Amino acid sequence: MIRIKILTGSVRPGRFNIQPATWIYEIAKKRTDMEVELLDLQEVNLPFLDESVPPSQRQYSKEHTKKWSKIIGEADGFIFVTPEYNHGVSPVLKNAVDYLFYEWHYKPVSFVSYGSLAGGSRAVEHWRGIAAEIKMYDLREQVMLPNYWENLDKNGKYQFNDAQEKSASAMLDALIFWAKKMKEARKELQKP
Ligand SMILES: Cc1cc2nc3c(=O)[nH]c(=O)nc-3n(C[C@H](O)[C@H](O)[C@H](O)COP(=O)(O)O)c2cc1C
Repeated sequence: MIRIKILTGSVRPGRFNIQPATWIYEIAKKRTDMEVELLDLQEVNLPFLDESVPPSQRQYSKEHTKKWSKIIGEADGFIFVTPEYNHGVSPVLKNAVDYLFYEWHYKPVSFVSYGSLAGGSRAVEHWRGIAAEIKMYDLREQVMLPNYWENLDKNGKYQFNDAQEKSASAMLDALIFWAKKMKEARKELQKP
C-alpha cells in the first residue's frame, strides 16, 4: 500500500492551515489506493534544527530527529499544505524539511496552498526549487486557494467548492501514480 503523508505548514494560533490540511486529509482518507496520515507540525513540535552534523551525513544525535527520520522515511509521497509568508515558504515547514535529506529522496510531493491573490503560488515556486535539492519530484498538480478569507462563513469555516474537490482528486491521482513508480525506482536508486 502506498503511504502518503500530509504536512501542515503553519503552527500559528488561529492558523488557517489546519482547514485545508484537514480537508485534503478527509478526501484522501476515502480512497482505497493509499494510506494517508496527517502530520501536524504543531504536534510534531520540532525545535529549530539542533543537529551539529548536516543531515546528508545521517548522524542523528537527537531523539526527535530519529523519530522524525522514521516517520518521513516510511512515506512514499507527500502533500505540503503551505501558506505564503513574504512571498516565500513558512519557516516551520522549511525547518521540518531541513532536518532530513535521504528520507525525502525519490518521492513525489504536491501542494495545497493558500493566501492572497496568488493563492500561495509564490511559496509553492520556492518549494519546487527546494524539492529539487532533496531529490523529490514536485508535481504540477496542486490546489490553490486565492483570497481564502473571501470564502469563510460567519464561523470562519472555509467553503470548499466542487472545482477544488476536482483539483484535489486530480492531484491525488497524480500523486499515487508517481508514488508507485518511484517506490519501484527507489529499489534501484537507493543502494543499501
Ligand atoms: C509573516 C506573514 C507573511 C505573510 N506574507 C504573505 C504573502 O507574502 N502572500 C500572501 O498571499 N499572504 C501573506 N500573508 C497572509 C497569509 O496568507 C495569511 O495570514 C494566512 O492566514 C497565513 O496562513 P496561516 O494562517 O495558516 O498561518 C502573510 C502572513 C504572515 C503571518
